[in-house]
Amino acid sequence: MSTRTFDYEILDEVKTRWSPRAFDPDRPVPEEDLLGVMEAARFAPSCFNEQPWRYIVAVQGEDDYQKILDVLNETNREWASNAPVLMIITSRKRFAKNDKENRWHLFDAGTSWGFLSLEAHRRGLHTHAMAGFSVDRTREAFDLGEDISIIAAVAMGYYGNKEDLSPELQKKEKPGLRKPTQEILLLKGKIRIHKALSHNSDAIE
Ligand SMILES: Cc1cc2nc3c(=O)[nH]c(=O)nc-3n(C[C@H](O)[C@H](O)[C@H](O)COP(=O)(O)O)c2cc1C
Repeated sequence: MSTRTFDYEILDEVKTRWSPRAFDPDRPVPEEDLLGVMEAARFAPSCFNEQPWRYIVAVQGEDDYQKILDVLNETNREWASNAPVLMIITSRKRFAKNDKENRWHLFDAGTSWGFLSLEAHRRGLHTHAMAGFSVDRTREAFDLGEDISIIAAVAMGYYGNKEDLSPELQKKEKPGLRKPTQEILLLKGKIRIHKALSHNSDAIE
């Protein structure tokens, strides 16, 4: 299988969102769209409505943009330097109201980033999350305390030219595929996916 297939009709943005590397360096993201994207991130649900996510958002040309670029690993920096917007996603490890450990902060920050990426896509933008960066150097560069978890970097912008990427990266420049539904369900005997609804295997027992 080399293209995405869908068993069910779902949100267009979920179907068509993907993580490219060929960003257009000459097309900045209008402030209205940047703030619209952050609005979607803001409205994600979270445990006790704590909203633990904290975003560092930087636009090409700003000092913070260069700081983020500097903490990326070399492979990511090669393509992400063309993205007009770079972010670092962080979250607060403890609840603000009682200083107790928030076991769900990463879950909630992940939900927020998911909302962000879909809203970006709805606005014609692309996002690409990155684990390939130095957490220690990010903590130092942005003076973040140990109460903050540094989770991921993100590149955001408009699509550019695939041909501008190195030959290796050009080969990877396509939407990622997915495991079949059966593989992501932990079954306790209640959920059954019928063969007719599932594209490549038998009913689940
Ligand atoms: C938390 C996280 C970290 C990732 N780290 C990197 C990375 O360092 N470099 C990279 O090129 N892609 C990275 N990716 C992109 C994934 O490889 C990509 O989302 C996955 O292959 C699915 O493809 P799709 O987003 O096109 O559907 C990361 C994605 C996530 C969510």
